[in-house]
Amino acid sequence: MKTIDHTNEYNTQARANPVFMTAKTAVCLMARAGIEDSVIIRNRLGLQDDTPLQSMADADVILGNVLVVEAKYRTMCRLIEDSGCHVCVDLPCGYTPKALRMTEKGLRFVGLDLPIVAQEAGPVLRSLAACPERMSFSGVDATNYSSLETVLQGIDEPLCISTEGMMMYFSEDEADAVISNISGLLGIHGGCWITPDPEYRLQFFHSFCSVFGESAFRKLEAAGNVAKRQSDVGSLSNSFILDVSDVTSSCKAAEELLKKHGLKAEKVNLAEHMPELGIYRELTSKQVDRFKEAMRLCHYWVITPDGTQKRHAREKTAGQKPFEMSYTCANGIFQLSLAGRVDGISAPTILKAWDVEKSSGVIDRIKVDCSGLEYISSAGIRVLISIQENCKRDILFYNVSQPIAKILAQNGFTEIC
Ligand SMILES: C[S@@+](CC[C@H](N)C(=O)[O-])C[C@H]1O[C@@H](n2cnc3c(N)ncnc32)[C@H](O)[C@@H]1O
Repeated sequence: MKTIDHTNEYNTQARANPVFMTAKTAVCLMARAGIEDSVIIRNRLGLQDDTPLQSMADADVILGNVLVVEAKYRTMCRLIEDSGCHVCVDLPCGYTPKALRMTEKGLRFVGLDLPIVAQEAGPVLRSLAACPERMSFSGVDATNYSSLETVLQGIDEPLCISTEGMMMYFSEDEADAVISNISGLLGIHGGCWITPDPEYRLQFFHSFCSVFGESAFRKLEAAGNVAKRQSDVGSLSNSFILDVSDVTSSCKAAEELLKKHGLKAEKVNLAEHMPELGIYRELTSKQVDRFKEAMRLCHYWVITPDGTQKRHAREKTAGQKPFEMSYTCANGIFQLSLAGRVDGISAPTILKAWDVEKSSGVIDRIKVDCSGLEYISSAGIRVLISIQENCKRDILFYNVSQPIAKILAQNGFTEIC
């Protein structure tokens, strides 16, 4: 068995989880909006040239995105403060200045995101904070209950969990797992989950239409394509996300999904809670009026337990194996053995091992023993696809459970026994 070279850590994490780039885009948009401290955060991340925005088709696409992001950020800050909770769990925290605003108001801030983001955001935000002792940043995968529970254990106050710009990146299974996890956390700690995500499409649609009129559709399509390219996620939708063309039944589906996990949603009208925005300076007064009116059609969801949750949250992790990986490489055969969960946290480890072996010789066969593999997320699939692209023969998977075999087959892998 070989040990893993820990160089290129950042690189492998980025390849396994390209979605982290969307958080860099968000902080650049915030800087454009003039949101307090976002320019300095953007610069400390080395993004002063706004690289993530350069793939946006034109200035209007950027303007429309700024409008949505600023409205979301400022309204979410207000709703979190109004929740009455003293602990804000920002999942995902990205690189926003929310940690600074919440800790200034006396709240404790727990920033959770994929490790690649949490490791980078923590030092930057703490260095700017008046009260750094009130904030912490930890790497998690929202689909991984243990990773969340471990960070939050010891907090014995109700949580305000805020989720801004994450749920659309998940497959059906992943969205289901995340909702189940949040339900579990609220079951233990109490509190609420506030999120604009179910209506993010509505917010984009009405924002763009109110400001750009007839050319809104083309600009919306361009904005969507950038988000898809950056995150490497195909549809940016699942049952938790409302469909602009069928709001009533998609809303019902999202509520059913919450109900399945013992949760219920109160819808908070965006127009009624949205503060004045800095980006209005780039709009005409007519556009501002139309925008404010259009935001009456959008809601942020305040989600709480509905009292029917039966399963104790701790049962979620009972019997789950931790991630384990071992591998050998000889005679051109890369032999990998996986156990536990392959997700956004563990998937980069596989890529690291592969990079090391691939760079030191020709590999023409890959065999993966899945006997202990319990779960694979889209980050894990992405890593396997990336490995497959560098090997002529199809990867052979053996000892595969039915659910994992189904996921592998759906993603184009054929040699599965
Ligand atoms: C559009 S950004 C939003 C970040 C921040 N909330 C904001 O408003 O700028 C999407 C974020 O979701 C995070 N993310 C995606 N999948 C995740 C997962 N499985 N677990 C935790 N965070 C995830 C990404 O790392 C990224 O920071």
